[in-house]
Order: sequence, then structure tokens, then C-alpha cells
Amino acid sequence: MNEALAAIVLAAGRGARMRSTRAKVLHELGGEPLIRRSLRAFAQLKPNYLVAVVGHQANAVEREVRESFPNQPLCFALQTEQRGTGHAVRCALDELPRNFAGRILIGYGDMPMLTAASLDAFIDATRGAALSFITMRVENPAGYGRVMRDRVGTVTRIVEERDATEAERHITEVNTGIYAVEVDFLCKAVGELRPNNAQGELYLTDIVEFARARGVAIEARLAADAAEFAGVNSREELAQMESALREQINRRWMAAGVTFIDPATAYIGPEVKLGADSTIGPNVQILGKSEIGSNVVIEGTAWLSDVIVGEHCHLKIGVRAERCEIGPDSEIGPFANLREGTRLEGHNRIGNFVETKQAHIGRGTKASHLSYLGDAIIGAGTNVGCGVITVNYDGYDKHQTRIGARCMVGCDTQLIAPVTVGDDVYVASGTTILRDVADGALVVSEHPQRDKPGWTAKWHQRHAGHPKASAHKAK
Ligand code: UD1
Ligand code: CA
Repeated sequence: MNEALAAIVLAAGRGARMRSTRAKVLHELGGEPLIRRSLRAFAQLKPNYLVAVVGHQANAVEREVRESFPNQPLCFALQTEQRGTGHAVRCALDELPRNFAGRILIGYGDMPMLTAASLDAFIDATRGAALSFITMRVENPAGYGRVMRDRVGTVTRIVEERDATEAERHITEVNTGIYAVEVDFLCKAVGELRPNNAQGELYLTDIVEFARARGVAIEARLAADAAEFAGVNSREELAQMESALREQINRRWMAAGVTFIDPATAYIGPEVKLGADSTIGPNVQILGKSEIGSNVVIEGTAWLSDVIVGEHCHLKIGVRAERCEIGPDSEIGPFANLREGTRLEGHNRIGNFVETKQAHIGRGTKASHLSYLGDAIIGAGTNVGCGVITVNYDGYDKHQTRIGARCMVGCDTQLIAPVTVGDDVYVASGTTILRDVADGALVVSEHPQRDKPGWTAKWHQRHAGHPKASAHKAK
């Protein structure tokens, strides 16, 4: 029952059709590198061995895989020259113990929609078979190896597109690139591969013809959902897949009770959680591990990454927020920038052109217009007036500003950090706070007002010959 299982994932190729300096498997889908998404499906099966074949940009790919699966025992096989998928499997077999007995599940690193459930079902359904692989029917088979069958429908071989005749190219049953092969047969078969094809490579797919010639039974299983097995070869395919993934995610959230004004322009990351009865407006990106509560309205044009938003919040047009927490019943924007470490306790209002960073803001506190609140701790029920600035940076270090609860911080106040303002303080507008302020005080910077009657007329007289003089003439 419990046969040993090894998994091999091929990720050594350059991915020439991407026309990129970056290895194909490091390009991203749904915010994750392709190799992480592909490998995850194999890792979830908990195989006895998991071998990743690396080659092109081997160090970068290996680093990515190690960081993606810190708790997964992994082997890496180095394929220094990319001589084809069959050659890559030969390299991987060298990494397995000589006495390994069992089956080997093989897949490609450019299959980011793959799921463990499908692999598991495939492994189960093909138990005992020496060679099995998954096929799929596609409308446009371009780029895929075509599955050839004889008159009674038995698989005979796989023909790569570049080696196919015109008639063969019309075949729409194609090879997904997922195989389960009994180890002894696999070793024999890849040992016999020859590069007699259009690309001069050792094709893994040729093991099918090898099996057929030796009377080894071949089990080809047609996938129910072709989209899951699609391989990415070009940027166009990557973009199409991204949009398919997006659609799948949005459909799931709509089914769970989230309103999308236009799902075509909503970009919700795979790990994001959305609460019921929330509304996502146009042009909204919600990324990373963001969690949006229920009954939240995001009007539109928002970029949120790793943001927790409590229930009943209203995000007006133009909110950018990163690594922060927005407590329930808050109103944010329009045009607000909540940077990392912002924590709003709830019932807050952060209005237009307000930037916050490392700011812990108490319940009910408001900053409605044109402020910078950085490295700040502000108590509950305080009103931060228009144009208030925490002066937190001295050119070397960042310093903290503390403002107590129930304060009225007047417009155009600067707080020169480090500084502490107590509870229940009134700060007159235009104050520059240099020193700590005690609870309950009024603080004012003296800027004495001086008036010079009739000054304006004299000023214009002095400019009588100036080309702009007529513009200032009193009516
Ligand atoms: C391959 C299959 C094709 C199948 C398709 C499914 C072969 C010969 N063809 O074609 O039948 O329909 O996938 O998507 O296998 N790689 C290496 N070392 C190499 C060459 C490739 O590790 O020397 C890796 C690549 O990094 C990639 C994977 O193998 O992850 C597949 O290579 P790719 O060039 O994309 O193969 P396809 O032409 O798509
Ligand atoms: Ca491919």
C-alpha cells in the first residue's frame, strides 16, 4: 500500500521564450514565483524525496526554493548544460539513493496552477503502472507535445510540436508534463534517450515510445480541468494565466458574499481574506496577507499590501496602505498614504493627503487633512488639525512624538521630536513644539502680529515701471 515516492521537478531551463534576463521559473504569478507554486503541489504530497533540478541561474532558483520551503527536506540536482527534459531527469536520478524502490513523480517548474489534490488522485489511480502520465485536451495545442494514439486508442508516443507533421499538429490531446514512473523502468528509459529531434535534446517524452516498443503498459489519464496543467512559456501566457487566476479568486469571493463593482479590475492576492458584504470598487489591488473585515467599502483605486482592515471601514478613493492595521469603523482617504507600522485602534478618520508611518493612533482620533504623522503615539479622542507635522528625522536618527488623549492639536503645528504632549492639551495653531507639554495645558508659540497700514499701495508704487504693473492696478 505505502509505496515509496520520489518527486522530481524540472527547473533548469532558461525559458528563452520569456525573453528575459531572469530565469523563467522566477517570474511571478499571483505574487509568487512560478517555481514556488509548482513545487508546492509536489511538497504537499510529502514524498520521501523531493528533487529540484536547477541549472540556468541555479543559485537564484535554489535560494528561492529553499526560502519558499524552509521546513521541507529538499535535494538539488545541478544540470550544468540544459540538454533537455530527459537529461534533466537523468541528473535528478543521480541524487536519489541507489537502492530507491518505488515510483517517481515528475513535473515541470513552469506549471503554477497545479494542485496537490490532482497529483494525489493521479498517483492513486495509476498504482502498479510502470509508466503513467496526464494528458489534457486544449483548443489551441501550440507549444505542447501531442499525444499519439493508435487505431484502438492506445498511446504510442508523444510528438513535440517542432517534430510534428502538419497533420499531427492538429491533434488537441497534449502532454501536461506530469508523469509517474516506476524507478527501474525510468532509469532504463532515460539511459536510452537519443537527441535525434529538431532541438537536438534528450526529450523525456521519448520514454513513452520506449515503453511502447518494449510492451510496457502505458497509462495516459485525461485531466478533467486543463487550466490546472497549463505550462507558462511566454509573457503572454503568463498574463493570460494571471487573469485566469484573478477571475478564479474573484469568483470565489463573490460566491462568499463580496460585491465587486468590476471584477475585471480587482486584483486580489491568493492569500487575501475578504469579509462578507464588503464592496470592492474599480482598480483595487489587495495583496499579501491582507484581511478585510465585513461590511467594508473600498471605493476604488486602492493599493493595500499586508493590511488588516476592521469591519465597517470606509476606504475612499485613492488609499495606499502597507503593513498596517486599520481598526473597525474607520474612514480613510481620499488620497491617504498609510505606511508600515501604522496602527489605528478604530473609529478613526485619516483624511486627504495624510501620511502615517510607525504611528499608533488611539480610538476615535482624527487627522483629516494634510499631515505627516511618523514615529508617533497618539491617544484616543484627539483631533490632529490640518497641516500638523511630526518632525521625526534629524538627518541621522528617527525620533518619537507622543501626544496624549483628548487633545486639540491646532493647524500647522510642528512637533520637534523627541517630544511628549500630555492629555487634554490644547495646541494653538501655528505652534512649534520644542519641549514637553504637561497635561491640560494650552501651548502657544508667540508669533507677534504686526500690521503696517497702507503698505500695499506703496509696494505697487515702487514697481510702477514693471511689466507686470498693470496686473496689480487697483480696479
Ligand atoms: C514540455 C514537454 C511537452 C509538454 C509541455 C507541457 C518535453 C520534451 N516536452 O515542453 O511534451 O507538452 O512541456 O508544458 O519534455 N527543463 C530543464 N532542463 C532542460 C530543459 C527543460 O530543467 O534541459 C525544465 C524547464 O525549466 C521547464 C521544464 O523543464 O520547467 C519544461 O521545459 P520547457 O522547455 O518549458 O518544455 P516545453 O517545450 O514546454
Ligand atoms: Ca513549458
